[in-house]
Formats: sequence, C-alpha cells, structure tokens
Amino acid sequence: METEIKEIEKGFFVEMGEVKSPVELERVRVKYLGRKGILDKLFSQLSRVEITQRPLLGKMLNELKERMAKEIKEKESALAAGRKTVGVDLTLPGIYFEIGRKHILTQTIEDILVIFENLGFVAVEGPEIENEYYNFTALNIPPEHPATEAFHTFYLELPRDSAFGRYLLRSQTSTVQVRVMEKIKPPLRIVSPGRVYRPDAVDASHSFMFHQIEGFAVDEKIRFSDLKGVLFSFAQRFFNKEIKMRFRPHFFPFTEPSVEADISCIICKGKGCRVCGRKGWLEILGAGMIHPWVFRSAGYPRYKYTGFAFGMGVERMTMLKYGIEDIRLFFENDLRFLRQF
Ligand code: PHE
Repeated sequence: METEIKEIEKGFFVEMGEVKSPVELERVRVKYLGRKGILDKLFSQLSRVEITQRPLLGKMLNELKERMAKEIKEKESALAAGRKTVGVDLTLPGIYFEIGRKHILTQTIEDILVIFENLGFVAVEGPEIENEYYNFTALNIPPEHPATEAFHTFYLELPRDSAFGRYLLRSQTSTVQVRVMEKIKPPLRIVSPGRVYRPDAVDASHSFMFHQIEGFAVDEKIRFSDLKGVLFSFAQRFFNKEIKMRFRPHFFPFTEPSVEADISCIICKGKGCRVCGRKGWLEILGAGMIHPWVFRSAGYPRYKYTGFAFGMGVERMTMLKYGIEDIRLFFENDLRFLRQF
C-alpha cells in the first residue's frame, strides 16, 4: 500500500500541473479528495491492512491529504490572482445585445393586411417607379389635367417610353389596380401596400414620401353596400368596436361615385375635441365604385363587372390609432420614439 500511496501522490501533482481553470481544479479535487474519491477509498482499505501497519499508513494518508488540500488551496488563489492580472473587472456591466423590432409603420401595415386577408383579400405589391400611363392615364387622369397638379413630382431622367410616357415615382397605390386587372380576371379581392411620393413640403402632417394601402374588389355584382360593409368591418377591427363610420361625397377621377370615409373621433367618441378639430369625425380614407374607364384600361369587357376601391394612408392610420401628433417622428429614426411600439 505504501508504494500505491506514492504513485497516487505523483499522479496528483502531475494533474495539478496541468490545471488552468477553476473548473479543472474542481475536477481534480473531487477525483482525489471528494466523497468516494481516491483517498476516501484508501482510508476504507485500512481496515483490511495488518494491524501493526495501520498507524503508519494512516499517518501517511493523513499527511498526503493535507499536502493535497494545501496544493489545491494555493492553486485556487493563483488562479484568482491570474484573473486579476489579465485585467478582467468583474464589476463591469455585461454587454447588452439589443434585439431589433419592426418599425411601427411595418407593424401597422401588417395589422391592416391581416384584417383584409381575413376578409378574403390577397396582398400584392406594385412598383414604386411607375410611368405616366399607370399613374395617370389608365386611371382616367389626363396628364395635362389640373387634378394632376398635386401629383407632379419626382420625374426620372430616363428616356420616355413611347407608349407609357415618362417615368416617375408613383403618387398613389391606385396604380396597382390596372396592373393587377391586366393580369387576372374577376372575381378578385386585392390589397396592396407601398410607398408613394408627392411634391409636399414636410410639416407635422405632410411628407414627400409616405405609405398607402390600396384595396379593391371586382366581380359581377359588387355594390356600394359591399364597400361600406368591408370598410366598416375593417375600421371596427383596426380601431375598436364602438366607432361609427360615415361616407361623404367626394371626387376621384377613377371612381364614380367617390367618397371620403370618416370614423367617429376615437379620442372624444364624436363629441368634438382638439384632435378632430371639434368636428367629432376623423377622415381615414378615399374610396368609391371603380370607374368604367379603369375597366377599359384593364381590357375588361364593357358593363360586365363592377367593383369598389379604396386607398388609405398608413401614417395617418397609425397616428390616429396611437395618438401620434407629428408624421416626421416616423422617419427620424429616434429610438426613444420607435422603442415605444
Ligand atoms: N388614390 C387616392 C389617393 O391617393 C385614394 C383612393 C384610392 C380613392 C382608391 C379612391 C379609390 O388619395
């Protein structure tokens, strides 16, 4: 047993020489000094040793145990000191990895699309770089008409296409109507989100770039009441169940009749307050029954189909829903604002 003890001691010091971390140190400690460890086993073998040898071996074992414990302790403090000399400051705060999130406008677009998808609409996207044909002519807006004034902007310096006119950044998502109708026949129910551009000076409620969601449905017997039902049920889901809705006559070249739709003010519930300008109503979108000219642009047979269309501003919907007072907040990238959503 004596030689065995010496071998074990040698092995222990070899292993200790290789220890480089507290974890490794603990492993060696458990192996030799732990309960059911190597030394523990030797102690229990003592009872089987000849009685005269027991005191001597017992003493050897005890001394070995002490040497091991001392060595472990020293190693422990050496490791701790080593940590300090490489300059790790354990009191420093950890590195915080920020998790990104969707911009509030993206969230709103997704919320709106889900509501329409549940009503049977399919989402598609159209190009932001358009031409005069889809942006104006196909929608019954002659390019020289004064109604195009608010839309004339951001023309691209590309050679004009003889059939489609000049290239420009689209001023409305209504361009998608004819683009989709050219490709698919009714019945169709489409929603289309995207950026649009206008020659507006930037202020609290205007931006030269903003987002719209266009929606339209075409079939053989679509009626104005379908438009009302779809928009009312959308508004109830997007804002809340208690809102009321009203339609006012309006004009758009590509719908007839045309309307603007209002919801009862979500702040004062229709009583009149600062947000709704004491009117009790908030305008949320433009809409109407699709003009026969648009169907003609699409190449649909005359008088066969009817349909409705609507277009809403995403920034406006977001501002109304969350009580945001300045459109510029969406585009300034100030995380203190964006983190709230
Ligand atoms: N395109 C119109 C706008 O920009 C909104 C609209 C869409 C109106 C569809 C009627 C039908 O204001």
